[in-house]
Amino acid sequence: MAGRIPQSFIDELLARVDIVDVIDRYVPLKKAGNNYKACCPFHNEKTPSFNVSQPKQFYHCFGCGVSGTAISFLMDFDHMHFVDAVEYLADSVGLEVPRDAITPITPSQQGLYDALKQSAAYFATQLRSTETAISYLKNRHITGETALDFQIGFAPDQWHTLLDATDSNESTLITTGMLIRNDSGKTHDRFRNRIMFPIRDRRGRVIGFGGRVMDNSEPKYLNSPETPLFQKGRELYGLYELRKHKRNRAERIIVVEGYMDVIALAQKGIKNAVATLGTATSSEQVAQLFRETDEIVFCFDGDNAGSKAAWRALGSALPSLKSGRDARFLFLPAGEDPDSLVNKQGKQHFENLVQNNALEASEFMFSTLMDQAQKGSDESGTGHKARLAELARPMIEQMPKGVYRELVTQQLNDKVGVQVMKATPDNAPVQRNMSATQAPAASNRQTPVRKALMAILAQPAVVLEIDPEEYNFSEQLPGASLLLHVVSVVENNPAITHSGIIEYFRDKPEGASLIKLAANTIGDNSEAGIDEPLGVVRHAIEWLNKESRSLNTPSLNKPPSAMTADEKEALRQRIESIKKS
Ligand code: UTP
Ligand code: MN
Repeated sequence: MAGRIPQSFIDELLARVDIVDVIDRYVPLKKAGNNYKACCPFHNEKTPSFNVSQPKQFYHCFGCGVSGTAISFLMDFDHMHFVDAVEYLADSVGLEVPRDAITPITPSQQGLYDALKQSAAYFATQLRSTETAISYLKNRHITGETALDFQIGFAPDQWHTLLDATDSNESTLITTGMLIRNDSGKTHDRFRNRIMFPIRDRRGRVIGFGGRVMDNSEPKYLNSPETPLFQKGRELYGLYELRKHKRNRAERIIVVEGYMDVIALAQKGIKNAVATLGTATSSEQVAQLFRETDEIVFCFDGDNAGSKAAWRALGSALPSLKSGRDARFLFLPAGEDPDSLVNKQGKQHFENLVQNNALEASEFMFSTLMDQAQKGSDESGTGHKARLAELARPMIEQMPKGVYRELVTQQLNDKVGVQVMKATPDNAPVQRNMSATQAPAASNRQTPVRKALMAILAQPAVVLEIDPEEYNFSEQLPGASLLLHVVSVVENNPAITHSGIIEYFRDKPEGASLIKLAANTIGDNSEAGIDEPLGVVRHAIEWLNKESRSLNTPSLNKPPSAMTADEKEALRQRIESIKKS
């Protein structure tokens, strides 16, 4: 995935965002000298050793060793995928991620999007001329404006409309799910005589439909099948419309069960609801929502099915729960759904319920587990407490490490009366990917090459002043190939920044050494030779050139595969002695 977003975009993005703002949203930072500081969010500590450098757009914790860029912070702290982190940052500075880079749209995919877009337009036109459909919507208190906003339409009571109504051929319409081929090989429209709700992705492209009958026939809703463009577990009905209304992050998002719930709430002015598409809420959907807001309120029917769905939603929310975020659960009176309730009781009443009656995730979790524990154990008090601990532990372990998880752990310990679970141990380095990887043979000794790398990180453009002819050294020398690699990255991306270089080496084997170097000097520019970067880099090149010449005895100057055992040993010894020098 990562490789598909052009490096030039990552560079531009990292040059535009400010890591201080990004991290400060999660962990309040204080200015201290050249850097910003906080108690490290990745491990427990009382005095701040988590440093963020604004000029370098880089963070490092001297306590547990984590470090990285704004992108790594979102990945490690907020558990975002790389692409999500890039999208989130791009959103925050008003950049559009080059789309084709993420999911290249093939001509055939474009055809699918066109087919769906034209179908939606056709249904919308049909609605305007179909009195029964208009009066159905009126009966449900939907105005023309709301219908327009959600692009509600109507599929006429006919078997063959879309082939004519769109520019698409049979096979395209079949792939989008709009046409069905029957056993005798003939095709017909899937949706007939139904109110049509287009499902749009976050960018507003129609990817599928839900269609409702206007009477009591079955099925009440017919939905598009899963297609190359439409995966139910990833999409949320109403998310595009919500984003369209909210220019900034939503204060909270309400998750409901039905299309009509989203629309009825919007009709009453509650424009921050989305619906899952007849499936359980997935953790991917929860993660997506937490990119838009810090508070999700799941709203379910008060019946048995509702509490089951809520329990599943809680499971999906656990990996996203941490301090600064809320997931809450609202159970409606039996027999009501958000649509019926808001129409009977009005906007204010519904908002009050959301505000006052929704349970905190941990409240909901413990009260449900308490019930389960009581059912599943004997009468003695200790029995059900032990059972509660047993049930709660795996759930808490799904939460990201941090303050929120510790609070919930504490709540569990309080309920059980003994410490059944330890909060995150002090100073335990968090397992992480790139940032935790230890640099090979990590010594902090300042060799000329290390100094040069630091100077380039601090001021990448310095590389552009060096004539490629100056590089006359063997890549076998320690650090030489990394130096050349970094140089070529800068030459190819002249505007690259410190954090851009670090990101470039994400997932590459050299990344670990580089990040270690950057971490060691996060607060110290003098060490990196910032005053005289060109001199520092030239010095390293000259040093490497000289060492290379001394390596350059004929027998040592051939590929190791062609050497005799003695020659290999001589080369090894020579390199060892250079390392020590
Ligand atoms: P509900 O049966 O609760 O319907 O289904 P609703 O949202 O209250 O609809 P109205 O008010 O009667 O119009 C909730 C959701 O479950 C899916 C749909 O996504 C629906 O919005 N569903 C339901 C189906 O996919 N097919 C069905 O036949 C019924
Ligand atoms: Mn309903």
